[in-house]
Amino acid sequence: MKVLIVYGTRYGTAAEIAEEIGKTIKNRGIQVEVMDAKKAIKDKDLSPFDMIIVGSGIKMGKWTKEALKFLEINRKTLPTKKVALFVTCGDANFEETKKRAWKNYLKKVAEEKLEKEPVSMGLFGSVYDPNAKHGLVYKLAMLFYKSQLDKMGIDTSERVDFRDWDEIREWANRLADKLV
Ligand SMILES: Cc1cc2nc3c(=O)[nH]c(=O)nc-3n(C[C@H](O)[C@H](O)[C@H](O)COP(=O)(O)O)c2cc1C
Repeated sequence: MKVLIVYGTRYGTAAEIAEEIGKTIKNRGIQVEVMDAKKAIKDKDLSPFDMIIVGSGIKMGKWTKEALKFLEINRKTLPTKKVALFVTCGDANFEETKKRAWKNYLKKVAEEKLEKEPVSMGLFGSVYDPNAKHGLVYKLAMLFYKSQLDKMGIDTSERVDFRDWDEIREWANRLADKLV
């Protein structure tokens, strides 16, 4: 059994999730390869893999173009594999916006880009980091999140990691269950 995990990331959040999913599945005795979508779109041979997990961070409502391209160029091969999708996004951090995130960033992408339904989809939180050096657009997005977090009484002076690592590992273990 072999699993390929392909992630699209702008700020590293999806990459860390992909690595953790990879570690969890490896611990189950399954071979895993984790790869940036930028590399995976360069003719990656999918034939050795039984399961392909594809994930992305979201910016202005969109997956990274490379993660989408990976789904597009492998459109005909993916239905022959078990496919799972995940996203990490700010909308996953709050109960009021979770449903919208599921619909817009997972269900819609699955419907538009996959010919066969994914075996599972994972919606994971993001990282709020007021001190990260990611440039102006990132800073503006953090200001937007700051106002939401302030309203909820969450301390915004420091980094907050909304990713639930137990949930991420549980999701990965459920995927491993589908292989063994
Ligand atoms: C400029 C910017 C735009 C964003 N736009 C959205 C958005 O439209 N919807 C959302 O749910 N999250 C949005 N987010 C939050 C990101 O999806 C979240 O930080 C995610 O974990 C980033 O993943 P990455 O680090 O792998 O790129 C945005 C973040 C930034 C910095």
